[in-house]
Amino acid sequence: MNTPSSLTLRRPDDWHVHLRDGAMLAAVIAATARDFSRAIVMPNLKPPVTTAALAAAYRERIRALVPSDCDFTPLMTCYLTDTVDPADLRAGHADGVFTAAKLYPAGATTNSEAGVTELARIARVLETMEAIGMPLLVHGEVVDGAVDVFDREAVFIERVLAPLRGRHPALKIVLEHVTTREGVAFVREAAGPVGATITPHHLLINRNAMFAGGIRPHMYCLPVAKREIHRLALREAACSGDPRFFLGTDSAPHLRSLKEHDCGCAGVFNAPSALACYAQVFAEERALDRLEAFASLNGPAFYGLPPNERRVTLECCEDFATPDLPVDGEAVRVFRPAGALRWRVT
Ligand code: DOR
Ligand code: ZN
Repeated sequence: MNTPSSLTLRRPDDWHVHLRDGAMLAAVIAATARDFSRAIVMPNLKPPVTTAALAAAYRERIRALVPSDCDFTPLMTCYLTDTVDPADLRAGHADGVFTAAKLYPAGATTNSEAGVTELARIARVLETMEAIGMPLLVHGEVVDGAVDVFDREAVFIERVLAPLRGRHPALKIVLEHVTTREGVAFVREAAGPVGATITPHHLLINRNAMFAGGIRPHMYCLPVAKREIHRLALREAACSGDPRFFLGTDSAPHLRSLKEHDCGCAGVFNAPSALACYAQVFAEERALDRLEAFASLNGPAFYGLPPNERRVTLECCEDFATPDLPVDGEAVRVFRPAGALRWRVT
């Protein structure tokens, strides 16, 4: 089959995005709202979104900044801490404020200091979530400094995720931004409701990209990109049509000055280029006929939501430009692959 030069699909959703707050939110929201109908909004603000009241207020700040010609629904998440209140979580879910809750192992990534120190501390919360069908979204890395940074996801699966699956067999779990073949295998083989999001950057780069000719801070995110065998496993999973794998950009903007820094922040900002990047990957894998499942059907099915009725069209181009996004007199670098980006949203 020749690669088509354009492609129309149901509008996708982004099942994992960092929209931030204040000036950064104002700068980045249009990129997500333009290309996605819904998005699961990460709660790792400062301070984190730990209650239904905080989530409802944050949702209003997002809605107020969505461009008027965009039809976009933010889906909110609760940042789990050792002391999160199961009653508030349950009420927030019943009221439609919380769609899911996010587990950050304390210290695993950006603004995760208030995260969970030990799963045993939130056993009642997890029981509640299992009972009400509320998905648990997992940052799947151990924080044990003795574990090599490239092994932290695989070790997390063995030490934390597999036992958790056993203790809560009906809990809906999403292994967010899966980066390893071990992660892919776990999701494929796990009993019960388990899914995974896959980012555009983990499909396009391996760990060499962080060191290409020098240190490349804009290629640094967490979980960090892994070896080529892992990237290939992610591509295979995304393009397989397996309903457990779905689109989640993990778009995570940081100012250039904070990326190009003595201690640069983790995060790749890809919202403006994400759909183009996914299309490029699926075209390279000769799997464009499966892009709609990955981008627009598998996620809603996992979350128990209807797929979007509106459509989006992508078309081939010479090279989709990805200029820096201005923010507050500074700029945020937009992710793009090493060569040309040969797709764009029309
Ligand atoms: O690279 C990352 N950036 N990984 C995360 O888990 C958090 C995110 C952020 O908030 O910047
Ligand atoms: Zn994230």
